[in-house]
Amino acid sequence: MPDFPGRYPATRLRRFRMQNWSRRLRAESALRSADFVLPLFIVDGRGVPEPIPSLPGVSRLPIDLAVETAKEASALGIPGVALFPVVDACLKSEDGREALNPENLVCRAIKAIKQGVPDIGIIADVALDPYTTHGHDGLLRGNTIVNDDTVAVLTRQAVVLAEAGCDIVAPSDMMDGRIGAIRNALEDSNLPDVMILSYAVKYASALYGPFRDAVGSKGALSGASKASYQMDPANAVEAFAEAELDLAEGADAVMVKPALAYLDIVSALHSRFAAPIFAYHVSGEYAMVKAAAAAGVLDGDKVMTEHLLSIKRAGATAILTYAAMDIARSLKGEG
Ligand code: PBG
Repeated sequence: MPDFPGRYPATRLRRFRMQNWSRRLRAESALRSADFVLPLFIVDGRGVPEPIPSLPGVSRLPIDLAVETAKEASALGIPGVALFPVVDACLKSEDGREALNPENLVCRAIKAIKQGVPDIGIIADVALDPYTTHGHDGLLRGNTIVNDDTVAVLTRQAVVLAEAGCDIVAPSDMMDGRIGAIRNALEDSNLPDVMILSYAVKYASALYGPFRDAVGSKGALSGASKASYQMDPANAVEAFAEAELDLAEGADAVMVKPALAYLDIVSALHSRFAAPIFAYHVSGEYAMVKAAAAAGVLDGDKVMTEHLLSIKRAGATAILTYAAMDIARSLKGEG
């Protein structure tokens, strides 16, 4: 940081804060609807949304309503959606094989959204947790999530999702070596333009609780701990190694997740790498603000905006957030 040469009283920083127009001119960062990716939970069926009690304002959507929501998002200037299937218990298995079915729920959602809303980008999660009976992102052998066999399955899952028509595959599993394997498989499958958004820096966080309620992977979690593959919240330097490896293996962008408790990581990656840095404002971060607002403790919309702005200020290129539609509406003056 350069030294600021001014001295009081010649320098009075409050001058720029005195009026609205000068505050606006002085602003170093701003939120735009184009900063956001809207996560969507997809269920089988038609016409009826299922509200998620731990995520106020968010519902599981059947495909027809997901298409409508993607249309609204696009009209508000939101460039992308991230899809998460809520898989029927009878389709879950020990090895999560439904993930490889080209006609599975998320593949059908990708096709329907591509057809109905061709101008919105579609991000599809690569991980087995929606499909496994144990709720882990990979294959469980004994008490271990095995790395290399999981990578082989995730690679096939990524190709299935890309063939269904998604624009970005987003491995959120944290296995070692999966980005290179997925990049090679996409090349071999003649899908060289499909992007990889790597959840490179994903912490073993307690802030994913409402998401696990939403996709029904919470009660299941058994055997191993997600801490055996997700990062330790104590670590920062390790995040550089994760991001560097994934970018070298062919990731187009890297994600930091969660966002607010890890703004130091967002900021450090932003200054260290030329690649786009995505930040996931996760379910628990969103739910805490909603719960506090419902309890009358604070102004939820203002706090949500302040939080998202802080993620942008820290250096995030894009933000995944359940608040995307609300904030995009208020930016348009429709809030
Ligand atoms: C799992 C996955 C998780 C989230 C996105 N993908 C949860 C987990 O690792 O258990 C969490 C997102 C959120 O909390 O909003 N593949």
